[in-house]
Amino acid sequence: MVTERVKELISEIEQITVTSKDQLEAFRLRYISKKGVVTELFEGLKNIPQEDRRAVGQELNTLKNLAQDRFQEFNAAIESASDANPEMVFDLTLPVVPNQQGSLHPLTIVRRRIIEIFERMGFNVSYGPEIEKDWYNFSALNFADNHPAREMQDTFFISKSQGEVKDDVLLRTHTSNVQVRLMERQKPPIRSIMPGRVFRNEAISARAHCVFHQVEGLYVDRNVSFKDLKDTLYHFAKEMFGKESKIRLRPSYFPFTEPSAEIDVTCFICKGKGCNICKYSGWVEIAGSGMVDPNVLTNCGIDSEEYTGFAFGMGIERITMLRYGINDLRLFTENDVRFLRQFEGA
Ligand code: PHE
Repeated sequence: MVTERVKELISEIEQITVTSKDQLEAFRLRYISKKGVVTELFEGLKNIPQEDRRAVGQELNTLKNLAQDRFQEFNAAIESASDANPEMVFDLTLPVVPNQQGSLHPLTIVRRRIIEIFERMGFNVSYGPEIEKDWYNFSALNFADNHPAREMQDTFFISKSQGEVKDDVLLRTHTSNVQVRLMERQKPPIRSIMPGRVFRNEAISARAHCVFHQVEGLYVDRNVSFKDLKDTLYHFAKEMFGKESKIRLRPSYFPFTEPSAEIDVTCFICKGKGCNICKYSGWVEIAGSGMVDPNVLTNCGIDSEEYTGFAFGMGIERITMLRYGINDLRLFTENDVRFLRQFEGA
């Protein structure tokens, strides 16, 4: 009985042709899988009288090997056919899956744009360390040891000096440290911008963060005047926010500049008419600036009789928020793709 059945199956397998993946799967289910006919016959072995069992077992093994050999053969044939003929695996009638393209982070877009504008005006780009010594972040910039201005920028300290000499190590609170490093190692003319990450000990909210980005600028040469500062930032505002933009300067205070000024630009959302972005004033603040204090030049080994300079600093987050009407600073660091996708192609 069993022998008959095995013979039948052998001839069945020998005659079968398999040309598609579906047929191959049907073949596998019937002859190879644990629920297939061959397994079933093996399970029946225990009911075969002892004296015949060995012979039947051998026949079953032959059947099993044949099934496996044929399976390998069909599988190989289908694989090579589908290489040559992709229609066998690709359904060309399916709708196309759109290519999920990544996009630049809005802060990257704006940083690159700022750099581009200043590069065209002849500024180069400088970088410096985020972990900094007191000297480069404060002292060289004319912050006296116990000057209250040090508290203007709540600082994350890494180590505090013990003795007389101020040798604190800290996370830089602005990229002005790069200005000092540049002036110490390079003779004027210096015309450079410094993009980078800065740190302040602030509670995180929609309007403040403990990590943010700045671009500062420095121009030191003979006869650099306040007018050069105004012209440079006026040109920047027109390139960044549109040709009709105007700027205004408001007196301000920074330890490292004298005189100092905040730079406002006409609100490019309402064009000066008044909206909630500019708090109905028609102006938005974009940068701090001023003429480099002669003490700073001297601290950095530059002759303040011979040279003058201007400096400015702006927050990349702030400009990005103004430009794209973003109302919460935290969106920049949450990496929510629903936010980030909006900048595709920007
Ligand atoms: N360093 C200042 C800040 O972080 C910005 C600034 C730079 C102001 C240069 C004036 C001149 O707030």
